[in-house]
Amino acid sequence: MNINSKFFCKKNLNLKNTYNKDFGISKESKRIKIRRKGMSGKIVRMNRIFKADGKTVIVALDHGQFQGPIVGIADIQTTLKNVKCGQADAVILNPGAIQDNAQILGGNLAVLCRITGASTNYSPSFDYHRLISSVRNAISLGADGVVVMGFIGGSGENQSLELLGRIAEDCSVAGVPLIAEMLPQSPDHFTDPKFISLGVRVAYELGADIVKVYYTDEDSFSQVINSAKIPVVIAGGPKGKDALETAKEAIELGAKGVAYGRNVFQAEDQADYVRKLVELVHS
Ligand code: 5RP
Repeated sequence: MNINSKFFCKKNLNLKNTYNKDFGISKESKRIKIRRKGMSGKIVRMNRIFKADGKTVIVALDHGQFQGPIVGIADIQTTLKNVKCGQADAVILNPGAIQDNAQILGGNLAVLCRITGASTNYSPSFDYHRLISSVRNAISLGADGVVVMGFIGGSGENQSLELLGRIAEDCSVAGVPLIAEMLPQSPDHFTDPKFISLGVRVAYELGADIVKVYYTDEDSFSQVINSAKIPVVIAGGPKGKDALETAKEAIELGAKGVAYGRNVFQAEDQADYVRKLVELVHS
């Protein structure tokens, strides 16, 4: 490589460490150095999930564990190929789907493994997520991060937040980023800023590296973002025509990306929808 091509690389690929730069762990104290082994794993994996601009387009394809073979993911292999073709940055999958589609994954497409669940649409206790896998298994499957549900309010809160904290511990030891999906237990509070802000803060306090929440609204979302110093990505919800608009607004207000599921895989052209998200998030 000559000097010019080196310069080209630095200038165009922004080889500075995104995770260090944007999320505030570059100034290591002596205490942090003690945990350096685990931290380097987190940094490397965070840099797979987030692009050089510190943002990410995640496509959630984990619905089968809760909703079965719904439209758009019944043939998950084709969907995965389309998502990859649209150049998403990461996908959320359950362990079995990772195992079965390993040949499509990796490369520029980071893999986030959901490790909680055990509660389907037919369950009487939708807010009781249990551990269905482990950080260790996620690593052996090739995952770059794990996704864990954290319920706010409701009778499952204690158990789900305890689980989140315990998994955060495993993730620190293993150097694996933890994505906490913080969901108010009652649908009445799904986009309530008080619940969402609290969820973001709880995720941070328990050791999550990324938090995934529903978008609230233009007036309150900055407050959500400022609730903690970890990147916030927004979840999509049911297919709706304003999901791209919502993504744009959320990014402008400080979200670091999207983690959209049905809006992508139930779109007429899955790859094209991903491309639109990529353009909007990374512009
Ligand atoms: C599905 C999930 C998804 O990861 C999340 O809700 C995003 O998907 P969607 O945009 O379809 O809501 O938890 O069970």
